[in-house]
Amino acid sequence: MKKEIQVIRDQIKRSDYSEHSVPLYTTSSYVFDNPDDMAAMFNGEQEGYIYTRYSNPNVSEFISKMAKLENAENGWATASGMAEIFSTFGALLEAGDHILSSRAVFGSTHKLLTEILPKWKIEAIYVDGGSPEHWEEAIQPNTKIFYLETPTNPGLDIEAQHVLFTVIETYGSYQSYSRLHG
Ligand SMILES: Cc1ncc(COP(=O)(O)O)c(C=O)c1O
Repeated sequence: MKKEIQVIRDQIKRSDYSEHSVPLYTTSSYVFDNPDDMAAMFNGEQEGYIYTRYSNPNVSEFISKMAKLENAENGWATASGMAEIFSTFGALLEAGDHILSSRAVFGSTHKLLTEILPKWKIEAIYVDGGSPEHWEEAIQPNTKIFYLETPTNPGLDIEAQHVLFTVIETYGSYQSYSRLHG
């Protein structure tokens, strides 16, 4: 079956009403069958929905569809691009780490890389991302993330992801590329 069809058919469980489009789950929280299940879910020992900001059936479906489109194992979703970028850096980096970033980043990403992350001793430098040599020459012993955004804003360039993938295969660091789906 074609990937596009798989993505269309990839839906969370239908209710007893057999609806065609997925209902929006606007609940803030969820009910539990018993206190033990509730405790296990809060402790992270059992899968389940607890609180909509952590997870929600509509967000789960969105993540599942996006992962299929991107050939990814899994993913997570945020309400904005900057939340995604900030949480990626926050989850993967610590003081003393280094980011190598393509020069063509969105203005708010530039602010994050040059003004906010340095407050926590996380440094970034820019490279022209078009050839593996540019990335390789700039690698430092503490480089933890290679970062690029594609398509770029405002230039709408399609950045050479394959170049970055080649470098990463060699150097085995984290790779992050931001593709915004609006
Ligand atoms: C390439 C790129 N990165 C990050 C962002 C930030 O996304 P948001 O405005 O959803 O926080 C944008 C927004 O247009 C963008 O184009």
